[in-house]
This record gives sequence, C-alpha cells and structure tokens, in this order.
Amino acid sequence: MSASISLAGKVAIVTGGGRGIGKAIAKRFAEAGANVVIASRKMENLQATATEFSSLPGKVVPIACHVGRADQLENLVRETQTQLGPIDILVNNSATNIGQGPSLDVTDEMLDKMIEINIKSALRLVRLVVPKMIERKSGSIINIASIAGLVPQPGGLLYSFTKAGLIMLTRSWAREFGPHGVRVNAIAPGLIQTDFSEFFWKDEQHRAHVETTQPIRRIGQPDEIGFAALYLASDEASFVTGQVFVFDGGATA
Ligand SMILES: NC(=O)c1ccc[n+]([C@@H]2O[C@H](COP(=O)([O-])OP(=O)(O)OC[C@H]3O[C@@H](n4cnc5c(N)ncnc54)[C@H](OP(=O)(O)O)[C@@H]3O)[C@@H](O)[C@H]2O)c1
Repeated sequence: MSASISLAGKVAIVTGGGRGIGKAIAKRFAEAGANVVIASRKMENLQATATEFSSLPGKVVPIACHVGRADQLENLVRETQTQLGPIDILVNNSATNIGQGPSLDVTDEMLDKMIEINIKSALRLVRLVVPKMIERKSGSIINIASIAGLVPQPGGLLYSFTKAGLIMLTRSWAREFGPHGVRVNAIAPGLIQTDFSEFFWKDEQHRAHVETTQPIRRIGQPDEIGFAALYLASDEASFVTGQVFVFDGGATA
C-alpha cells in the first residue's frame, strides 16, 4: 500500500507521534515522503523516534508540545510552518483517559481535564491550521477517536463522551470545510496494543475475552491504524470526508 501512495512534498503534524498509534502514523507518512512534525510532552521520546526514522524519505521533526496549552499549540503550528512550510495534514491523536469508574464519581476536574486534552486541543489546532488550508483549498484532518465514542464502555463515561464529541466535530467540520477543499475524517480503533491500553490487554481475562469473542481473534497493532491514516491523508481519498472508519477486528460488528 505504501508503495503506491505518495505524500511527497506534503507537511504533516501528528500529535502524540512519539509512540503507539501516532508513531505508526508518522512512520507511514514519512515512508510516503511527507515531512512530519511529531509533537507531545516528552522531547526525549520524540527525539528517539525521530532518530529511529531518520533514514526514511520524509523528514521527521520533533517539537515538544502539551496539547492542553494554547501557547504551546500556537508555537507548534508556527514552528512547523517555519521549519517545513504550509501544513497539509493534521492528525489529532494525543489523548488521555482519566476518571475511569462509576459515572457518579466523575468530578468537575476530571471532566475539565478530559475535555482539555481530548477535545479542546483538536478545536484549537483546527482553528490554527484550517484557515491556511482553506486559503490553499487543500487539506486533510484526521481525528483519532475510538469505538468507545460509538458504543459506551463500562466505567468509561468521560472517555466515551470525549471521543463521541470528537466524532461529531469531525462530521461538523467536514460539512463546513468540504466546500473549501479541506477533508475531515475520524478513525475509531478498537483495542490496539499500546501503552495507553495496557490496563486492558495486560488483564488476562479481558485479553482472553477479546481473543475468544472478537471476529478477528487478537488485539490490533498500531501499524494497522498507520495504513488507514496514510490513505485518508492522501489524494487517493479525495472523495472521502465526514466519515468514521472503524478498525476494531470486528468488535462492534
Ligand atoms: N490503544 C488503544 O487501544 C486505542 C483504542 C482506541 C483509540 N485510541 C486512541 O489512539 C490515540 C493514541 O493512543 P495510543 O494508544 O497510541 O497511546 P500511547 O501510545 O499511550 O500514546 C499517547 C500519546 O499521546 C501523547 N499525549 C498524552 N497526553 C498529552 C498531552 N497532554 N500533550 C501532548 N501529547 C500528549 C503521549 O505523548 P507524551 O506522553 O510524550 O505527551 C503519546 O504520544 C489516542 O487518541 C487514543 O484515545 C487508542
């Protein structure tokens, strides 16, 4: 797939691009020739990923950024434009998951934090990036949601709520920006083996349940999401917008 899809000359930002799903996406983009900024809080981790990918055709540039901080998001966009040029692709991938448990135990602080990291960061980045995409009549936004945004998860009220919000932002933005040449899609993964989800896949009972009941009887790997993002970012997906692509081994079937 990567052999036939080219992102040569494109510039991308992938938040949370230093590990897990974001890293897999950044790798596919750079393999396809895009210059990619990977952004998250831990520079050491970003730097290690950039070094690992240094022989790929596209540049991989690390920029430290806490996506909950407006000034750091502004710096991320400014630095990307200065170092690499106009932004063609934005992947809102960074997320957090606090406040797992009974919904009546959810506090205002948990709610605010989840909205700040999982929703407001995407809103702010879109506000910073899309006007220039509209001027250039071209752009692709990819929001990493979750099947938890489609189906409620036990004890996962805030996570499901924020991912459902991201899905509705995706569809709303797609309607608004489509006439200006900017496409917006979401990817909704099921259980993928990363640090983020280790609570679930390291739990023997949970893992056994997935491996015996899910149509594809294993948990997913980050690279299986990387390919999907590569397609959505590319001109091959020029007629695709406002959609939610589920990659869950059939869990929601
Ligand atoms: N793994 C799954 O089963 C699964 C399923 C459905 C959806 N997803 C979604 O996939 C996306 C990626 O998750 P993952 O599974 O790849 O997890 P991961 O490997 O733990 O990666 C999460 C990334 O988010 C970054 N991040 C966290 N807080 C941040 C902040 N405040 N500012 C900037 N970056 C921050 C982390 O980097 P730093 O620590 O350096 O900041 C890290 O790069 C998330 O949106 C998640 O909700 C995952």
